[in-house]
This record gives sequence, C-alpha cells and structure tokens, in this order.
Amino acid sequence: MIYSRIVGTGSYLPPRVMTNADFAARLDTTDAWIRERTGIVQRHIAEKSQTSSDLAFEASRHALAAAGVGAEDMDLIVVATSTPDYVFPSTACLLQSKLGVKGSAAFDVQAVCSGFVYGLATADNFIRAGAAKKALVVGAEVFSRILDWNDRGTCVLFGDGAGAVVLAAGSKPGVHASILRADGSHSGMLSVPGNVCGGAVAGSPFLQMNGQAVFKFAVRVLEESARETVAAADMQLSDIDWLIPHQANVRILDATARKLGLPSEKLVVTVDHHGNTSAASVPLALDEYVRAGKIRAGHRLLLQGVGGGFTWGSNLVTL
Ligand code: ACO
Repeated sequence: MIYSRIVGTGSYLPPRVMTNADFAARLDTTDAWIRERTGIVQRHIAEKSQTSSDLAFEASRHALAAAGVGAEDMDLIVVATSTPDYVFPSTACLLQSKLGVKGSAAFDVQAVCSGFVYGLATADNFIRAGAAKKALVVGAEVFSRILDWNDRGTCVLFGDGAGAVVLAAGSKPGVHASILRADGSHSGMLSVPGNVCGGAVAGSPFLQMNGQAVFKFAVRVLEESARETVAAADMQLSDIDWLIPHQANVRILDATARKLGLPSEKLVVTVDHHGNTSAASVPLALDEYVRAGKIRAGHRLLLQGVGGGFTWGSNLVTL
C-alpha cells in the first residue's frame, strides 16, 4: 500500500503589518469591535509588487528546505488560490518557473478557503495512485486585492500570506482520510461576483458576504466534517492531537472545538495575528506550530477548510 506523508512545511508572510488601529484611523470601526467579533488583532498585507506566486515561492522554498529535497524532485505542484496572478497561466505554473524547474504537473485548485484541504486531498490521491512520488502543495493568497477598503464589514477580516507542504510517498500514513464536500446552491453567501470581459471588469471585483449566514454554516459543516473524517479513518475524536480549522474568526474556531468536545489546548489559533488568509490559513498555521515545536512528528492533525462555493472538507494526518 502506498500512502503520502507530509515531510516538510514552510510559510511566508509579507513584512507589512496592518493593525486594527490602522483601520480605526480611516474607517468607522474600533480595535475593540474587531477583536470582540473576530479575535483579529493584526494581519499582513502584501506590497503592490508582490503576487500570490511570489508569496507561494517563499513558502515553497522553506518547505522544500525543511523536507531536505529540491524543487526538481517534485512530480506535482498544486497551488490553492482564489487570488491568482493572472486569469491564466495558473499560479502553479508561475511558481514552477520561479522555482527554476520544469516537467512536473502543475495546476491550481479553486475552492476558496477550503483550497488547501482540497489540494492536499488531490495530491494525496496522486501519490496513492502511484502517479506522483513527491508533491508540493501550496496555499497562497493576496486577498487584500479583492477587498473594498471602504467596507468595514469585510476589509478588516482578511490578510495575505502563503503556506506550503511537501508530500512524499511512503509505506505508512501520512494522510489517513480526506473528505471534501460542496454545495453550490450557496454560491451567493460569499463571493467575488465579477470577471474580466472585453477589457473591463464585468460585475463586482470585490468580496461580498452574508457574515451571519457564513458564521452559522461554517460552524455546522466544520463539526460534521470533523466527525465524518475521523470516522472514515476509523479513529475517535480523542485520537486528534491538534485541530487546525480554517482561520476565519476566533468565535468560529472556539464554537467548533466546543461542539467537538476538544479542549482549547488542542485548537490551533493564528487568526489573531494573520487575519483570514483564505487558502493559505491552514498551511500557515501548521508551519507556525511546527516551527514553534508545538506540533511534532507523530502528532495527529485534523486540517479543516470551509469557504466560498460553498466548499468544506477535512484531512486527517499523522505528521
Ligand atoms: N466595525 C464596527 N462595526 C461594524 C463593523 C466594523 N468593522 N463591521 C460591521 N459593523 C456593524 C454593522 O454595520 C452592524 O451595524 P448596524 O447594527 O448598525 O447595522 C453591526 O456591526 C452588526 O453587524 P453584523 O454583521 O450583524 O455583526 P456580526 O456580529 O454578525 O459580526 C462578522 C460580523 C464579524 C462578519 C460575523 O458575522 C462573522 O464573523 N461572520 C463570519 C464571516 C467570516 O468569518 N467571514 C470570513 C470569510 S468566510 C470564510 O472564511 C469561511
């Protein structure tokens, strides 16, 4: 039996930090409102010159170094992003070129904030099927580009960044189970409903959402997905050392852990200093905890995504 295993993690945050006070200086909002409703204190914002593939490149370099392998060893590059550099080519192809290699398969996955979980499941299946031996899976976003900076209800929530993992084939799991779900009937609940047409933007280029509906939906499906994935791996929730949900809002994270009966010590929280970085949030959080020595080899992790589409899903992983 072939399994896939995470053999290295990496991440990158652009240096510029934006605090809640920076928003309060230009919008009708306060640090207290943002902290209380979201748990967010600060987020990183990319420079104008930085694209998702630039952030992905930095995160990938760190992940490859941690894994002790070269980009030339990758058979597959998957980039999860909703803020690609271009309509095409894919951000994964641009990343491949920045890494100075060619020949591997490279494509993007578009599942918004569930993108990394979808990408990891995809790469895991390539490896299990024998179609790849090593894969680079990246979540990279510059959500600052699709925010209406005058809309206090959305612009305070997000940040930019990238996270990456190297997956390698092995005889032991690794990735035990992944379950991916979607319900396109909720496409209007969270969207950027625009496109490029005839040289102009048709529709809206800005993120819009129904915050309260998103909140309720996210808590419900994160709980369902956790239970379903743990059962698919023939395990119990008590076997999980770390719950790493998509970092949208500290209240969503707390409510999910509470519903699952998991103590707060097992909940990974980085949304306070990253904001919501969409597809980058799970690998960014994973890498931060790995580098801090909190998440270690042998630990069981439940990675979870939920986002526009609506999409959601989980990967149960032994590091
Ligand atoms: N500062 C001050 N007031 C604000 C702000 C702000 N930044 N944003 C909204 N308000 C106001 C609203 O205008 C409203 O005012 P009104 O009562 O005068 O009309 C009031 O606060 C309450 O607004 P609500 O939207 O009802 O506030 P709520 O308690 O629901 O909090 C929030 C809003 C934080 C967005 C919450 O609904 C939420 O966290 N939802 C989840 C959404 C989320 O995490 N999205 C991320 C993307 S989705 C994903 O990643 C899965």
